[in-house]
Amino acid sequence: MFGATGQLAREVLVRGDGRVRALSRADVDLADASAVRRAVERAGDVDLVLNAAAYTAVDKAESEADQAYAVNAYGPEAMARACAARDLPLIHISTDMVFSGAKAGAYAEDDPVGPPHVYGASKLAGEEAVLANARRAAVIRISWVFSTHGSNFLHLMLRLAQTNPTLKVVDDQRARPTAAGDVADFILGHAARFAAAPAGAPEWGRLHFANAGVTSRVEMAAAIFQLAWPDRPAPEIEPVPTSAFPAAARRALNTELDTRRLEQVFGLSPRPWREPLAEVISQLQSEPRAVV
Ligand SMILES: NC(=O)c1ccc[n+]([C@@H]2O[C@H](COP(=O)([O-])OP(=O)(O)OC[C@H]3O[C@@H](n4cnc5c(N)ncnc54)[C@H](OP(=O)(O)O)[C@@H]3O)[C@@H](O)[C@H]2O)c1
Repeated sequence: MFGATGQLAREVLVRGDGRVRALSRADVDLADASAVRRAVERAGDVDLVLNAAAYTAVDKAESEADQAYAVNAYGPEAMARACAARDLPLIHISTDMVFSGAKAGAYAEDDPVGPPHVYGASKLAGEEAVLANARRAAVIRISWVFSTHGSNFLHLMLRLAQTNPTLKVVDDQRARPTAAGDVADFILGHAARFAAAPAGAPEWGRLHFANAGVTSRVEMAAAIFQLAWPDRPAPEIEPVPTSAFPAAARRALNTELDTRRLEQVFGLSPRPWREPLAEVISQLQSEPRAVV
């Protein structure tokens, strides 16, 4: 697995029971395409390659496009070529941010893309490079990821609530929050199936994975506070439009992912997002230095 310290990578490692070998940035810099190729060539006897690493700084990418493309597109391209040369399956993680947000309903895998910023465009270039260079490759798009680790909306809300009685939260962005742990469970639970699937099998290509239920940031913030502190007054949430937080990268307002293909191919309907959110919050509260 490329990635060791990220939100998703950590969940894969925790659940992997020693079956997963992780390469951190110190082991292999994804911006170095030859290092990526060598890592796959030297990976030894592995069932599949998972790319959970990415340049994920959405706003910073606007001024660091070269680095974003190197990590999100050219590194994965080298990975796909090297996997294809060894006939190794590749699972590459992508994002809802390849969509423009203009659609009213949920986005299916084959809906037109239109990334509104450099990060989304670099991830889209990565998807295309992976699928063009490896016939046994799955590109899994996920959205609004949360977990006990890393930098995500859950942690941001809990941190801000410590010192602010009122929080301004955007109310015009909608998507399906997704637990990194549920994505990890899906990948690990189907690793043998991916490893056995021949080129042309339905397992390959683009696939959406997101927990059930589309929601707004305001609704998600309210759920976080209700789950974290059921017995005390929640911070007041002031709904504001996205434009209230000027950012370098323009945000898409609707990136709801349609997961019907996941159900058709794998027979899987992800559970509602509130369930893993409650579990993650409870896990955070049981940690020795919990501030939640
Ligand atoms: N977070 C979300 O809400 C979200 C939503 C949709 C899709 N995704 C996608 O899901 C995947 C996993 O995201 P995440 O939230 O787990 O990301 P994350 O927590 O930001 O972790 C990113 C990982 O990539 C590594 N990385 C960054 N630059 C690298 C480089 N040059 N060489 C090697 N490794 C490098 C980081 O290593 P360091 O620790 O050394 O920086 C870190 O391990 C990504 O493909 C992302 O695009 C995420």
